[in-house]
Order: sequence, then C-alpha cells, then structure tokens
Amino acid sequence: MPLLGVNIDHVATLRQARRGIYPDPVQAALVCEKAGADSIVAHLREDRRHIQDKDVVRLRQELSIRFNLEMSIAPGVVDLACRVKPLQATLVPERRQELTTEGGLDVAAGFRRLKAACARLKDKGIELSLFIAPDKVQIDKTVELGVGVIELHTGCYALAGTAAARTRELRKIAAMTAYARSLGLVVNAGHGLDYHNTLPVARIPGMHELNIGHSIMAQAVFTGLERAVKEMRALAREQA
Ligand code: PXP
Repeated sequence: MPLLGVNIDHVATLRQARRGIYPDPVQAALVCEKAGADSIVAHLREDRRHIQDKDVVRLRQELSIRFNLEMSIAPGVVDLACRVKPLQATLVPERRQELTTEGGLDVAAGFRRLKAACARLKDKGIELSLFIAPDKVQIDKTVELGVGVIELHTGCYALAGTAAARTRELRKIAAMTAYARSLGLVVNAGHGLDYHNTLPVARIPGMHELNIGHSIMAQAVFTGLERAVKEMRALAREQA
C-alpha cells in the first residue's frame, strides 16, 4: 500500500486571497499529520503565490512526519532550502503563468543546472526526488544524475478525456514504475489524483507514495462546511 503525502498549498492559497493570517497551512499540516498523512508537501513557488518562506521554516520545525518541499531550482529557492533543510525536496519545473505544475522536469535539457542544484541540496543531507513524466529517457537521466527517487506526473492520466486514453496513460505509469524500480529507484506519483481516479494508481505494484492536494482540500470544504456554519450560527446567536 502506498504512503500518502498531503499537499497543503491550497490552504495557503485561501489565506493569500486576503493576505491575512488564516487559514494557517501549518495548522492544516498538523491536522493532516494527526489524520494519518505520511508526509506533508508544500510548494514554495518563485512568485510566492501561496506558501511563504515563513511557512517553510515553521513546517520544518513543527512537523513530526516527513516534510517534502516542492521547489524549482531558482537560486533564491535553493538557498532557502539549504538553510531550512527539509527532509526531502522534490524538484519541479516552474512557469510563472501556469495555474499549477503543468509538466515534469526535462532532466536531459536541464542536466547541468540540475546537477549543480542537486549537489548543493544533497550536501545539506536533503533527500532528493525529481518530478518527471512517465518516460524512459527522463528515468535514465535521473539515474545518471544520481537521484534515487522520482515522482511520476499523473496529470495526463487524470485529465484523459476518454476511458481508452485513461487506460493508456495508466499503463504507461505502471510500465515506467516497473522500469524505474528495476533500476533501483523509489517511485512516487502525483498530480490531479482525486477520489475517483486514485485507486488504480495506488494499485500499481511498487508504488511507494502518492502526493495529493487539491482534491483533498476540495473534499474538506464539504466534510467541514456544515460544522463551520453551525459554529458561526451558534456564535451569532450567543446572548451577551
Ligand atoms: N506532486 C507535485 C510534484 C505537484 O506539483 C503537485 C501540485 O502542486 C502535486 C503532487 C499535487 O497535485 P494535486 O494538487 O493536483 O493533487
């Protein structure tokens, strides 16, 4: 059974909508920890649209479970990661205008820059993972880079428009999981996984961890909304 990493970015998105102090993503991370999450994922984007530097520092200090910092290799971000030293860093590509991480890293094209960033992060004892498409070339280049963990991008699977396309994407993820495992890599997966499409990915032999954010936070709105309204209603009607 794969482990579950919970991505808390969208709690920070809600906070940043008002530039306020709530909801606190670190408090959310602690709730996820209590609920049985195996790790917490947070993406410190270059534009700081959701997670802020101070969240990263607090996550490192306050979590008992593994903190997996998702990050690009932009120099300022690598500097911060080297200072904070999360247990794990997942390197992702980043484009400013994208709504969310749209693709995997092109390990071959960015090889030299990735190698330099990986060396700095490894030197601080941070376990590295690369977010890549389920593709043989990317897997081979990851091995060449000396990184032992990959996260396979499940976005094409999650967004597949037909059952046939979904099956094709799932088979690709399963085949690349087996290939990467045969080379000794630890294989994780994530992006776009929800309450309807996660099970087939979870059942892939050798799958180590699934990293899921958006669907869990969306579900939390509905599992929590009734209680939230009741609490406010009781407060509004409280007599002085
Ligand atoms: N893994 C990686 C590398 C990601 O970039 C994201 C999105 O931030 C996720 C997992 C989680 O994706 P989702 O929010 O769609 O579950």
